Amino acid sequence: MSELEIKQNNSSEVKPNASVKEKLQIPYAVLCELTHRCPLSCPYCSNPVELEMKSKEIDTETWKRALSEAVKIGILQAHFSGGEPTARKDLEELIQHASSIGLYTNLITSGVLITEERLKKFYDAGLDHVQVSIQDTDPENSEKIAGYKGHAKKLHTCGLIRKVGLPLTVNAVMHRQNLHNLKSMIDLAVELDAERLEVAQVQYYGWALKNQTAFLPTKEQLDNATEIVEEARVRLKGILAIDYVVPDYYAKRPKSCMGGWGRQFLNITPAGKVLPCHAAESLNFLEFDNIKDKPLSWIWENSDAFNRFRGTSWMPEPCQSCDRKEIDWGGCRCQAFALTGNENATDPTCEFSPYRNVLDEPLSNVGKEEIPEFIYRKINVRKPLNGIGHNSNKSPKS
Ligand code: SF4
Ligand code: FES
Repeated sequence: MSELEIKQNNSSEVKPNASVKEKLQIPYAVLCELTHRCPLSCPYCSNPVELEMKSKEIDTETWKRALSEAVKIGILQAHFSGGEPTARKDLEELIQHASSIGLYTNLITSGVLITEERLKKFYDAGLDHVQVSIQDTDPENSEKIAGYKGHAKKLHTCGLIRKVGLPLTVNAVMHRQNLHNLKSMIDLAVELDAERLEVAQVQYYGWALKNQTAFLPTKEQLDNATEIVEEARVRLKGILAIDYVVPDYYAKRPKSCMGGWGRQFLNITPAGKVLPCHAAESLNFLEFDNIKDKPLSWIWENSDAFNRFRGTSWMPEPCQSCDRKEIDWGGCRCQAFALTGNENATDPTCEFSPYRNVLDEPLSNVGKEEIPEFIYRKINVRKPLNGIGHNSNKSPKS
């Protein structure tokens, strides 16, 4: 598909009558959130505060059609995520379909529900890659963070992934309560024969914002982590690749979240809503089109939610006059809205943002106040679904 011209939907605050044409990019990846069901209860979960129940999940044929439509608009990669995507019994069928139409397929999993037999089925279906989240190297802390007793099972699953011949990435969300184990996390990734370690940071919107004080690392912890990663990258060249981004609260410029709103990615929720980013439902005034009602190409091109922050014409000052506006696209919309209540605000992580002060208070208290207990997600599940569901503050029995 060649580049299309679309009309930019403008912010009411900025150039209300402008009708600016923006170049529509071809997205390269779709994140398929197959389900919100998950046995874990990580307090930094990026899924929406309101989770979709199983009865709202779209069926196999709708997912397959969505994947085919993704290929038609030029998408190259399908990432199967959740919740816990292996809770869907049709996962192998979806992988097989995606693979048969030429998509690169990646499974993002907690690893606690997978058997060797199922992994072999995924491999035979054409799965290209697996990412497993590990909460910490200390089993007790790992299980406390996950809200689930499954650390040993995760490590076992990593072994099985390599045994069946799939490449492995370890996803490690690092924060105040596990950064002291970063060195051992790197050693563990090598031991597990992972090809990549993603040292991710907690993003403070949705559920994670409730646990901000429990997770915000100190500056000293971060400086130390940066040194550890730099040393390990040299030492492990050719053995383990390490992705590491300094948390943006401590940075001077925001990240280019999602590579810019509506530019590179789209996300399909368990119920079939198509979002510009996985956290976009936190912008609770947006309405999202559904793959059940409209073709994906139409949604990518015309959906109000996608056009709302596409390009640069919606931006207020100082972004509007800034030479980085097509580099970071004004930062993260979900974070800006969560922290300021103003969806158009320059991301407060930018040193030029008029809202920068909303970060100064939490940052000035880091390390001084007691670390609070985690607030875990709770939803009322009338009847547990094969034991799967976010439903407790306590660790379920494994
Ligand atoms: Fe990015 Fe806006 Fe800050 Fe410039 S002013 S660096 S565009 S967030
Ligand atoms: Fe939604 Fe950054 S997470 S735009």
